[in-house]
Amino acid sequence: MSATIAVLPGDYIGPEIMQAGLAVLKAAAATTNFDYQLKSYPFGGAAIDATGEPLPEATLKGAQAADAILLAAIGGPKWDDAPQRPEAGLLAIRKALGLFANIRPTQVIPALVPRSPLKADIVSGTDFVIVRELTSGIYFGEPRELAADHAIDTMVYQASEIERILRAGFELAQTRRRHVTVVDKANVLATSKLWRQIAEQVAPDYPDVTVDYEYVDAAAMKIVQQPTHFDVIITENLFGDILSDEAATITGSLGTIPSESRGISGPSLYEPIHGSAPDIAGTGKADPLSMINSIMLMLRNSFQANTTADKIAKAVAATLAAGIMPPDLGGTATTESMTNAIIEQIKTREAMN
Ligand code: NAD
Ligand code: IPM
Ligand code: MN
Repeated sequence: MSATIAVLPGDYIGPEIMQAGLAVLKAAAATTNFDYQLKSYPFGGAAIDATGEPLPEATLKGAQAADAILLAAIGGPKWDDAPQRPEAGLLAIRKALGLFANIRPTQVIPALVPRSPLKADIVSGTDFVIVRELTSGIYFGEPRELAADHAIDTMVYQASEIERILRAGFELAQTRRRHVTVVDKANVLATSKLWRQIAEQVAPDYPDVTVDYEYVDAAAMKIVQQPTHFDVIITENLFGDILSDEAATITGSLGTIPSESRGISGPSLYEPIHGSAPDIAGTGKADPLSMINSIMLMLRNSFQANTTADKIAKAVAATLAAGIMPPDLGGTATTESMTNAIIEQIKTREAMN
């Protein structure tokens, strides 16, 4: 049975890294029996240009009908003053598909330790996951208002929304080192107080998991001071957005980190955590690894295509170990040459088998 993958290339470097990722997928799939078909849809700024809407009906329907969704990145200065911004489409697709759990891994691989802004002895061995709530909180709460003399955003959480993301995080921890850190601002925010109460109710259901609680400001500090402390961080939407860019940076670059957004049922959406990087679009400097890593995550988590994913993982590791790296990791490879080097690795390894 063929897997249907909805492809949303998006804006600026989005199409560049999507093309790179799909070329690697094609090369790896050719060496296994992974059978798939791609369906591409306009999304974000590209969709605003084509249809006036960041999330056209056909894109949403195509995404809903797919087995998995790949998104590169959307947004950029071109649409800063548009009546609807590309980012509104991203929030809308997450909400429409019920993608409440956003999983953002932070793993420092040995070849990239020297690229971390942190000292090697602090960052070595870092391997944690941020479980970010994605369909509620201040991103979606009402009322929301922007007037000349005041503005309102509202952070609302239902107990049920908190419970389901906590359970997703605890379950993930059970497959890892069984340690959860709940990150909140319970010394100030009512939503955080509720978050902590529910965490205390839910935690006894996972007796094999140890739990600690950190305020978000202290957690931001600890991520750079002692990143190996963490295994699974569970947090609300905005805190997770901010902490995940910070966490990505200690791995060497924001340009390598993938994510999965999943709901209770239906297709998951896989995307880099970074944006459309308008500052480097068209220069060949975009690191394709975030997209390639997102594709690997898709192969494993949506299609159990571990053999295909392993082939990509080994080819990426060999490419990096050979010192071929894009500029964000201190190298000189372009998006295209990096991609070609990975594809070459896939083919050479296959020929040796
Ligand atoms: P950004 O993540 O696009 O870029 C931040 C910095 O990281 C830039 O210096 C950029 O060059 C660099 N960078 C990001 N990805 C890279 C890659 N693959 N290779 C090399 N360098 C990379 O953040 P921004 O500039 O604040 O936002 C640009 C646009 O992207 C905005 O419109 C924002 O709303 C949007 N955005 C979209 C998503 C998404 O589609 N999921 C996520 C974040 C931001
Ligand atoms: C992300 C992005 C989005 C977010 C923006 C573009 C709406 O920063 O996916 O991390 O804040 O969720
Ligand atoms: Mn973000």
